[in-house]
Amino acid sequence: MARTTTVAGLSGTGQLVYGCDYNPEQWDPSVWHEDVRLMKEAGVNLVAVNIFGWAELEPEEGTFRFENLDAVMDLLAENGIGVNLGTGTSSTPAWLTTAHPEILPRAADGTVRWPGGRQAFCPSSPVYRDSALALVQKVSARYGSHPALRIWHVSNEIGCHNSLCYCDVSAEAFRGWLRARYGDLDALNAAWGTAFWSQRYSAWEQILPPRLTLSATNPTQTLDFNRFSSDELLAHYSAEEAVLRRNSDAPVTTNFMVAAHIRNQDYWTWAPEMDVIANDHYLDHRLDAPLAELAFAADTTRGLAQGRPWLLMEHSTGAVNWQPRNIAKGPGEMIRNSLTHLARGADGLCFFQWRASLQGSEKFHSAMVPHAGTDSQIWRDVVELGSSLGKLRELAGTTVHAEVALVFSWEAWWAHDQDSHPSGDVRYIEQIHAAYRALWDAGITVDVVPPGADLSAYRLVVVPNLYLVRDEHAAVITDFVESGGSAFVTFFSGIVDENERVRPGGYPGAFRDLLGVRSEEFFPLDPAHPLTLDNGSPASLWSEALRLTTAEPVLGYATGHHAGAPAVTRNRFGTGEAWYVGTVLDGSVLKDLLLRAAVTAGVRLTEAQSGLEAVTRRGNAHDYLFLINHSAEDRKHRVHGLELLTSEAVADVVVVPAGAVRVVRTTPARPDTDGSSQSRKDAGNDSH
Ligand code: GLA
Repeated sequence: MARTTTVAGLSGTGQLVYGCDYNPEQWDPSVWHEDVRLMKEAGVNLVAVNIFGWAELEPEEGTFRFENLDAVMDLLAENGIGVNLGTGTSSTPAWLTTAHPEILPRAADGTVRWPGGRQAFCPSSPVYRDSALALVQKVSARYGSHPALRIWHVSNEIGCHNSLCYCDVSAEAFRGWLRARYGDLDALNAAWGTAFWSQRYSAWEQILPPRLTLSATNPTQTLDFNRFSSDELLAHYSAEEAVLRRNSDAPVTTNFMVAAHIRNQDYWTWAPEMDVIANDHYLDHRLDAPLAELAFAADTTRGLAQGRPWLLMEHSTGAVNWQPRNIAKGPGEMIRNSLTHLARGADGLCFFQWRASLQGSEKFHSAMVPHAGTDSQIWRDVVELGSSLGKLRELAGTTVHAEVALVFSWEAWWAHDQDSHPSGDVRYIEQIHAAYRALWDAGITVDVVPPGADLSAYRLVVVPNLYLVRDEHAAVITDFVESGGSAFVTFFSGIVDENERVRPGGYPGAFRDLLGVRSEEFFPLDPAHPLTLDNGSPASLWSEALRLTTAEPVLGYATGHHAGAPAVTRNRFGTGEAWYVGTVLDGSVLKDLLLRAAVTAGVRLTEAQSGLEAVTRRGNAHDYLFLINHSAEDRKHRVHGLELLTSEAVADVVVVPAGAVRVVRTTPARPDTDGSSQSRKDAGNDSH
């Protein structure tokens, strides 16, 4: 059960959190005092310690050595720096995997994943679980009331590497999970559609994880294995949490990984278990638009926090070490990235890590104190960011308000990207990112919500590729439109139910009536050969022969099989309207359509300038307009108020220098403060 606490409370003084992972075990104790002196110089108020501490704390089974951690905890407490204390269970010591090789995880092909890296354990292993909980008991009994302790950090990035384990222990745990879900084998056989290919089960022992097969595996088996694996890791979190609660009143959390390359945890189901929502985010230069993805991850994290402030538990001052090409940040980029997270609802910013390692596989990962030391641009930026957070202190507790929601689902992601689908070129996260990026380019602030979320606070809901949707979740979207809202749905949505069973009668299944269209077949396109639409723009990857039942056409195909047929439609439904996009549009066309949908829905728009990201946080009396200039030219924005980073009054126009960030406190008229749509409508930011 989650406890109530605030992110700013973790700073110890109610200000914004500033901190990092701190791995003093990699350094001689003589360095620790220098570390603490520099932390104070930078304004650091929270550090994550003991994240990988197991082998250090328990060098042999049952032998514990706490002197070093005692000294670090005491030193931090004496200096007023709080600790985000790791339970230390994220990486197993060699003695454990040597004595119990059965805890090592196995890949889908049955091969073992060996120690020598990290997270080399099966999430279902009872041996791992018992050993980990014994450590958590020791750590929490010792530090549960320590003056430095502010929050517990369970394990680390749970499931980053080992989320899917296919060993015999996992198989048995999977069967237990399936029994709880289905009760009997008849129900499982029906849900999994085992009449296909002679896959029927007559005893539970016959059921396996979806190990590597010669042909495609059963899709519902695979989907259930994803659900099971996410639940299994969350169960481990809860087991550690229960031990911590016995020994300590401090809040408990773990660091999520909302990222394009991590998809095995359904954080919508995890979030209610956390006292504070924390995310780790790294700019991903493998993507087309890393900055839009940063904004998407931040907005998703805010969604997981149900709109409350959240904590950025890790990001980087510069390059990481795990991408094919690890790109350092340009001038001002670290500060722009940091303040973007803040603009989108973070009340704290932490880095991995404090001091750059000299050894190990992360030695070329950036840090707050780089290899070059404090005579470096990174250190100067770190100090500047700490000072900026001091100037922005009054933002703690303020929130972001959006009139547009975007539905995002890990479960739909798992189902959408399975094999044997119409096109392997269409990937769920890419379509989510494309829709989000179009909204981001249009300067529209978005809340990311799960399927089934209450939509009553919004005017427009964007639903990209929601291939799997439960009946009750489809009904929420339909009801929203019926009672006056607008929906913007993209292709391959509404196709299957929660068991991956196709909804018959024509596509797009669950949304056919809402959208007023029907199609009989999908016609995926070769990426090298897009079609052309009647506005001259390309239609890529996907097409359908759409028949209008009640919708009207918006854009049609000019080439290909369906020349003359609609590709984009719009349908009056109840007192609202629903748009459908049956192909992959060019980014600028998608943006224009979303803008049209937003305008018709009554969404209030702010002027969007290329390269200038604008987001508003709202407090009781004031709004805080963040203007983040990603471009190489100065930008001007019409607003009046007080700029908090420069302490300059803004009478009419604020100039945001190239590459800089400005945060303007404004005082909008608030006719009422009850959070109703009327107050949202009247209290928008002051830009024109
Ligand atoms: C993750 C981990 C850290 C570190 C960083 C490197 O966020 O939690 O321990 O490995 O990645 O980017």
